[in-house]
Amino acid sequence: MNIYERLIEDHGKQRGMAAGLAKTEGDSAERKRLFGEFYKELEAHAAAEEQTFYAELLGLADGQEKSRHSVAEHKTASDLLKELEKTDMSSSGWLQKFKKLKHEVEHHVDEEEKEVFPLARKLISAARANELGADFEKRKQAELEELAECA
Ligand SMILES: [Fe+2]
Ligand SMILES: [Fe+2]
Repeated sequence: MNIYERLIEDHGKQRGMAAGLAKTEGDSAERKRLFGEFYKELEAHAAAEEQTFYAELLGLADGQEKSRHSVAEHKTASDLLKELEKTDMSSSGWLQKFKKLKHEVEHHVDEEEKEVFPLARKLISAARANELGADFEKRKQAELEELAECA
């Protein structure tokens, strides 16, 4: 699986998880469980994406602007996740903040798929895109294991 197929697979998962979480209510076991999974998925995906795909794209002059923009959006999402973690799940503020995060994540993955990947396909060879897909898989697994230890 090349890097684009692999990242798009995760994006689909993230869209589904966000839609599921938006339907949960209050301080429920389901909200807690889904939020924990969403947190790990987003953080591990973003970290592995930066260490493999964006590290490659940042090294190419024409890829720098989009890479920096995406990495800044990862930081925005990560900050919102940490805020949500500290917010009382039974408060209305939690769902408001979550909806903001959902919007940010949807915007981000759409932008990667519609703008960043088409550019990267022009700059990165197909052979390299396959290697990056394998690298991403390994890095993401390592990130998930680290997050599981922290939890
Ligand atoms: Fe991303
Ligand atoms: Fe992504």
